[in-house]
Amino acid sequence: MSQPRRTVSWLDVVFLLFLAGLAVLPPRGEFHKQLILLAFGLVQFVEHQLISRYPRLGPSLAVVLKMGLSMLLVAHTGEPGINSSYYPIYYLPVVTAAIYFGPRAALLWTLGASASYLSFLYPALKEYEFNASSATELATRVLFFFIAALLVNRFAVENRRQTALYQQLAEQLAETNRQLERAQAEARRSERLAALGQLSAGLAHEIRNPLGVIKGSAEMLTQKLKTGDALSAELAGYISSEVNRVSALVTRFLDFARPLHADRKLQPFVPILDHALKAVADAWQGGPIIVERSYEDALPDIPLDEGLCEQAFVNLIQNANQAMEKGGTLHVSAARAQKNSRTGIEVRLRDTGPGVPPDQREQIFNPFFTTKQSGVGLGLSIVSKILDEHRGTIRVEGAPGEGACFVLFFPAENNASKELAPRP
Ligand SMILES: Nc1ncnc2c1ncn2[C@@H]1O[C@H](COP(=O)(O)OP(=O)(O)OP(=O)(O)O)[C@@H](O)[C@H]1O
Ligand SMILES: [Mg+2]
Repeated sequence: MSQPRRTVSWLDVVFLLFLAGLAVLPPRGEFHKQLILLAFGLVQFVEHQLISRYPRLGPSLAVVLKMGLSMLLVAHTGEPGINSSYYPIYYLPVVTAAIYFGPRAALLWTLGASASYLSFLYPALKEYEFNASSATELATRVLFFFIAALLVNRFAVENRRQTALYQQLAEQLAETNRQLERAQAEARRSERLAALGQLSAGLAHEIRNPLGVIKGSAEMLTQKLKTGDALSAELAGYISSEVNRVSALVTRFLDFARPLHADRKLQPFVPILDHALKAVADAWQGGPIIVERSYEDALPDIPLDEGLCEQAFVNLIQNANQAMEKGGTLHVSAARAQKNSRTGIEVRLRDTGPGVPPDQREQIFNPFFTTKQSGVGLGLSIVSKILDEHRGTIRVEGAPGEGACFVLFFPAENNASKELAPRP
């Protein structure tokens, strides 16, 4: 994420005004003092950029620069330096260190600043007498450096902790939001499928009766016309065979529309998956498909309807194989997972086919959506219904050109609070 461009804030301007205030105070003719104050102003301006560009080294550099400038200022404003009334300038490096570092490092930097200030004692001792009141004065000054460092540091550390906490909360909130959106999309899909199922079941049922009459009539006609003209017999034959085709379609459709009743029993998950993989592989007549399995150890038993689950996996594996007609790799993984505070098993079926374009990722679960010449488009809507029956979820992932990855989640328990325990 790019850092927002920092414009000059009014606080920076006020800081400069205070520095200017120092500049007009005596010693006014001291050219070096004015230069040093200017340098302080510059350092303050570039500090933010310095730290955002070099987050590791920047804070140390800012403190060192300010410490060096403080030394120069004290040296140029006191006779001797230790007596300079500008000694509080050392608060700048001390406070800067307290803002950017943890308590220990802040104390160390303050120790460094105090040592740098006290180093002016050495030349002063050659000319002046060092008595008890001077010692008290110096000790007071240095102790105030530490007090200021500790106070500011406490506030800064707490501030950083709060910021990190808010960031973490914001990330959690964003993730929950994403999960909610996904759950809403899945719920909408289930509702849509249920409504479509009801509507089409009624329609298919109504079509089936007249189809029976048409079929019976066509057969009687064929028998009657056997001795009659050949063209009429052929046409009656067409009616009969086409009615058979439509009838088969209606039957399959009714299978889809009929409410499923999953009879869920606690059982191991992997054998069902392996069985489906084998069933599809045995019947497969396309290019070579390599199956790569990665199952987490000791997956727990979960409540499943064996027949329905196998049907769901067969549909998905068939689709994957059909997507890799000339051959490819199917990665199958199963692992414990947690979704919306429910524990369960997540299965991923990832192929190396062309993948599903983003704009079709929801549509493919609709009945009769197919891009295949001989497809009916019921496979995935049946899978989706089976997952609904298991209170599970399904979605498709995969970047364009990366192959499709179907992600299925089977909850371990109806009761959301129960935790998964490994199988003994
Ligand atoms: N693994 C996959 N890779 C790429 N596209 C896929 C994959 N699985 C499904 N699709 C897309 O989703 C569509 C719908 O799949 P679905 O299984 O519902 O129907 P179908 O396979 O076309 O027909 P059938 O009813 O015979 O299964 C497919 O036509 C295909 O476009
Ligand atoms: Mg299919």
